[in-house]
Amino acid sequence: MTETAEQATPLVQLRDLKVHFPIKSGVLFDRAVGYVYAVDGVSLSIRRGETYGLVGESGCGKSTLGRGLLRLVEPTAGEVIFDGTDVRQLKGEAMRRMRRRMQMVFQDPLASLDPRQSVESLLTEGLKAHGLANGDSAKRLRETLAAVGLPASALRKYPHEFSGGQRQRIGIARALVLDPDLIVADEPVSALDVSIQAQVVNLLEDLQNELNLTYLVIAHDLAVVRHIADTVGVMYLGALVEEAPSDDLYAEPLHPYTRALMSAVPVPDPRVEDRRERILLAGDLPSPANPPAGCRFHTRCPWAQPTRCADERPGLREISPGHRVACHWAEDIRDGRIRPHEVAAEIVRPTGVLAGGDPGELIPTA
Ligand SMILES: Nc1ncnc2c1ncn2[C@@H]1O[C@H](COP(=O)(O)OP(=O)(O)OP(=O)(O)O)[C@@H](O)[C@H]1O
Ligand code: SF4
Ligand SMILES: [Mg+2]
Repeated sequence: MTETAEQATPLVQLRDLKVHFPIKSGVLFDRAVGYVYAVDGVSLSIRRGETYGLVGESGCGKSTLGRGLLRLVEPTAGEVIFDGTDVRQLKGEAMRRMRRRMQMVFQDPLASLDPRQSVESLLTEGLKAHGLANGDSAKRLRETLAAVGLPASALRKYPHEFSGGQRQRIGIARALVLDPDLIVADEPVSALDVSIQAQVVNLLEDLQNELNLTYLVIAHDLAVVRHIADTVGVMYLGALVEEAPSDDLYAEPLHPYTRALMSAVPVPDPRVEDRRERILLAGDLPSPANPPAGCRFHTRCPWAQPTRCADERPGLREISPGHRVACHWAEDIRDGRIRPHEVAAEIVRPTGVLAGGDPGELIPTA
């Protein structure tokens, strides 16, 4: 069967998406004295029915990207195309209708589920907000709970009466009850015991197959997205540094940052584990309010070169089909022409008004 034009167009397209949070001075409250460049120019596509895994260290902007995509935080610039419509141009009722189609599942189900509301009330809330509560609601709630593996008796209970894994099932049910096309799952299993994580990941996969859902799964751990993601994007300081089909990325990570992340994932085979390259990154993640010039990774990159790295920001380039890398030296690193070297931790000092003084107050734009 040939793909129709609609199936062939990605469900989600981000074009140069930016989310900057102004840093307002405590004294001159209405003046922005700087910005946190949480998401700073990300372009990516998510095909229908696919799972896009987004990984990176804490603070690199993963959640902000997910929230910007759903307009839970207002993007500063760029386009968010969802099913052919630029979501940033929608207002009022049109935006509300679009919102139903894009739902979020959060990391900590206990924190994101109101403890005073029964499961029934939690699930009905969404239906009411979207004008979908009607005579069929009770049936819809039971079906949704069954889909996430919970009995109908769960409807009368409260979040604290469930285990962590069951609570995350409720979080997923709350998204599913609205029959969305896209689910943004922000660290959906990070708060769960390892033994429960696989069950929830399997549930997400089963639901995707049954309901033809599209996922953006956010995780700081490459191991979590490995099995579930078709495509993986690696973020560093507000930007994508590498993107590839999952198998390609794990077989041959090309960006030095991805290599470092990957080197932290243990390999079950002890012979491979003994020979495994381990790359320890020097220093902390620089502040997204004051990202390094040039390649944002150059202050920590074991492959950094004296030319270009410190002064020219590399864009994502396609190195092999579907494999995009933001590194000036990706081919030389891949082919072993450039070897890694030691990196001394470098302190990245804040600039301008913030230096040495009041760190300011961070105020979101939305
Ligand atoms: N509302 C906000 N106001 C100001 N700064 C913010 C706001 N939300 C996030 N940030 C900053 O933006 C940067 C990216 O944050 P974000 O939560 O997106 O990172 P993350 O990759 O999801 O991290 P984690 O893995 O810890 O969840 C951080 O420096 C964070 O402090
Ligand atoms: S451009 Fe330079 S600093 Fe950046 S990742 Fe490549 S080698 Fe490292
Ligand atoms: Mg986050």
